Amino acid sequence: MRTTSAPRTDRKPTSSHVDAPGLAKRDLLCEVEAVSVRYPIRRGFFQRIVGHVGAVESATLELRRGETLALVGESGCGKSTLGRAILQLEPVAEGRIRLLPRGGDTPGASRRALARIAQVVFQDPLGSLDPRWTVGDLIAEGIDVQRLARGAERDARVRELLAQVELPADSFHKYPHQLSGGQQQRVAIARALATKPELIVLDEATSALDVSVQAQILNLLRDLQAEHGLTYLFISHDLAVVGQFADRVAVMYLGRIMEMGAVADVLAEPGHPYTRALLGSALRVDPEARIETIPVLTGDVPSPRNPPSGCRFRNRCPVAMPGCAALPYGMTGSLHDHQVAACLAGNSA
Ligand SMILES: Nc1ncnc2c1ncn2[C@@H]1O[C@H](COP(=O)(O)OP(=O)(O)O)[C@@H](O)[C@H]1O
Ligand SMILES: [Mg+2]
Repeated sequence: MRTTSAPRTDRKPTSSHVDAPGLAKRDLLCEVEAVSVRYPIRRGFFQRIVGHVGAVESATLELRRGETLALVGESGCGKSTLGRAILQLEPVAEGRIRLLPRGGDTPGASRRALARIAQVVFQDPLGSLDPRWTVGDLIAEGIDVQRLARGAERDARVRELLAQVELPADSFHKYPHQLSGGQQQRVAIARALATKPELIVLDEATSALDVSVQAQILNLLRDLQAEHGLTYLFISHDLAVVGQFADRVAVMYLGRIMEMGAVADVLAEPGHPYTRALLGSALRVDPEARIETIPVLTGDVPSPRNPPSGCRFRNRCPVAMPGCAALPYGMTGSLHDHQVAACLAGNSA
């Protein structure tokens, strides 16, 4: 019996391909090991906890220094929760998250220490920028909190950051509402850069922008990454953007990682029916000839309060079979660093 991602001789190695076993520890910025994050469900006058939402279940991944790892999946699958857990904004119920910044000091429990290493940019810049603050003060907040610079030195650093995100110098004294959506997002990026972090979580950071502005912001992010050696966790529901922007991708469904690998590999040869459905693309059932088209994803995502047993995708899966209800979760395969969640259809193909 071969696994979903058993050796395939026809798969071309990609330029971004890195062999996981040979990867030196110093190339890792973050290790996420079997992490589960659960939100309590509260009921009644006394807000008693009556259950839990398994927002992220048993997620294992790593962030490699200087790369862009995309987290992709439908709304509610746990992308933001996993990003928040990595930023230590959400407690981990099970598993372990380790940040390995340059210089080797792990940030420990202090939020302030962590802010030097990891920052976040959200989808809605106006929601994350206090409307009463000037752009200069908004960008300087991290510098002020961390006491990195004061007075003229601080202002000079803010002007440098404005230039880095290609905002005019006179934005310094403006207020967020005086800027366009794209400019506001540039302020949010400058704010994130201010503490010279190593990791930036981009949580749907370009999703609300129109296509041309989105392209400009993605270009800017790419330039900043090259210049500062930044690592990005790029959270998105848009596989097309992920295909252009990320090096590797982790596909999530109902709290679980279903597939992970170099973007080129995952998009060219999606190994899990969920990834294929998300792509809405052709499925190669038999490498010789037979082509079978998988319909684009239909139906609603089940509630994470009560997920299906076995494979969580089974009730929407076009190739589901009875055994899927009892299939234990696990990622298989490591050839070309491409891993796929256990799948009965894949095993029998
Ligand atoms: N603070 C919270 N309290 C309770 N449930 C939450 C909370 N935040 C998110 N959830 C639930 O956790 C699941 C994952 O949410 P989220 O991580 O925001 O998904 P995504 O970012 O992929 O859209 C969803 O079912 C969502 O309703
Ligand atoms: Mg989200």
